[in-house]
Amino acid sequence: MKNILCIGAGYVGGPTMAVIADQCPDHTITVVDINADRINAWNSDQLPIYEPGLLEVVTRARGRNLFFSTDIDGAIKAADIIFVSVNTPTKTFGHGAGMASDLQYWERTARQILANSDRPKIIVEKSTLPVRTAAAMERILNSGDNGLRFQVLSNPEFLAEGSAIRDLMDPDRVLIGGQETEAGRAAVNELVEIYASWVPRERILCTNVWSSELSKLAANAFLAQRISSINAISALCEQTEANVDEVARAIGLDSRIGPKFLRASVGFGGSCFKKDILNLVYLCRSYGLHEVADYWQQVVTFNDHQTQRFAANITAQMFNTVAGKKIALFGFAFKADTGDTRESPAIYVAKSLIAEKADVWINDPKALKNARSALGDAPVQLEPDPYVAADGAHALAILTEWQSYQKLDYQRIYDSMQKPAFVFDGRNLLDHQALFDIGFNVFPIGRPPLTHLT
Ligand code: NAD
Ligand code: UGA
Repeated sequence: MKNILCIGAGYVGGPTMAVIADQCPDHTITVVDINADRINAWNSDQLPIYEPGLLEVVTRARGRNLFFSTDIDGAIKAADIIFVSVNTPTKTFGHGAGMASDLQYWERTARQILANSDRPKIIVEKSTLPVRTAAAMERILNSGDNGLRFQVLSNPEFLAEGSAIRDLMDPDRVLIGGQETEAGRAAVNELVEIYASWVPRERILCTNVWSSELSKLAANAFLAQRISSINAISALCEQTEANVDEVARAIGLDSRIGPKFLRASVGFGGSCFKKDILNLVYLCRSYGLHEVADYWQQVVTFNDHQTQRFAANITAQMFNTVAGKKIALFGFAFKADTGDTRESPAIYVAKSLIAEKADVWINDPKALKNARSALGDAPVQLEPDPYVAADGAHALAILTEWQSYQKLDYQRIYDSMQKPAFVFDGRNLLDHQALFDIGFNVFPIGRPPLTHLT
């Protein structure tokens, strides 16, 4: 039986530890955070994040071998293995601002672990970190006067929001990086045994620490690069009457390319793709690899362009003015099945429409609270009923691929809107021909528009 601690009860720490607790009833798992509101929410049935299936897993294990607490010092003292899953946002100040990872939360945690430990422990990097962070962490952790030696492992998390529980229960792989020493190998084996409770051993991959740290940044960069690639093709499709979904299908059937992550969109969002690529770019520059840095930078630069051109197209198609016009945004989360709005393309689209003096109404099944924090006191209406959001609007813009939007009565919506009525489908989610037949002017991504305007 091990005492496992996770520091950081966010989108990664909460679900990951809930699944470990669920799958390893013999171990005790404690999750701590400096944010008492978050911990209180984890101890209630109103969990702080929305994730399909999460409440069931938490409810099964909570109080049995899963505990949420704010007593960080006490939990560190009791722990054998400590996962660190604190946030590592892009730095907003000083050297590397706007590019590098802000490591202050990680470092503070390392010092707190050192201050509260009277025996060696295994420290697991769960947060996404720049390659070679483990070396710095080890230096801090092993700097105590008491001669304690900690093993730092890298165990990056690959879950995606909206499918976190599925991803954790049945991961493509679990990656564990450790030092190639006897003590390093022993620590890796301890972590392997935990995951082997439910993950087939052939999917547990052990590498050196640096490969593991770098693989996490590389995986996100490759995934985001596919989206920017298909989005770049979408712009060409719009000029040539090719259909980006047909192109994606045609290329994705090549088994060397594969079908996933080729959905053209208003742009990728989320707390990690942009942050991790910028971090990769920063790292490359700091090693003098400017051409490599430029290559990856373009993935982010193009993504910003895709979102900007979607927003600009709304105004351009609506006779070059949206001032005073009601526009309903369907979806604000950065993807479906989550309430998370971090780096959501909807933030940029909303702000640019507000700048054009549009009357912006936002609907989202799970993200209205986070939409309000993302937009501050910007003048928008947050409306839980999509029919009310669309009532009297000149245009709908689909920004999140919630399946519930496919099931709405678009005839009813059309009847309630101003004419001509526009749909800008930033996710190619809806049946465009059916909308056109109702009377809408439809502007998809990467497909010719369907318009009654001549
Ligand atoms: P988050 O902001 O949701 O959660 C981080 C938590 O850490 C917060 O609740 C914060 O209060 C807490 N925290 C910060 N400093 C602390 C301290 N000193 N002591 C205790 N708690 C502290 O972040 P997240 O989305 O869970 O991401 C965490 C890490 O995991 C990041 O490095 C991210 O890149 C990585 N990651 C995220 C995802 C994802 O889907 N969100 C997936 C894979 C990896
Ligand atoms: C992503 C990765 O998929 C995870 O493996 C990784 O662990 C995580 O980042 C992380 O490090 O935080 P996540 O951002 O939660 O997960 O969600 P994704 O499914 O990757 O979607 C990211 C964005 O890309 C969303 O805005 C989504 O709508 C968009 N997307 C995705 C597309 O526009 N097209 C696609 O084909 C796929």
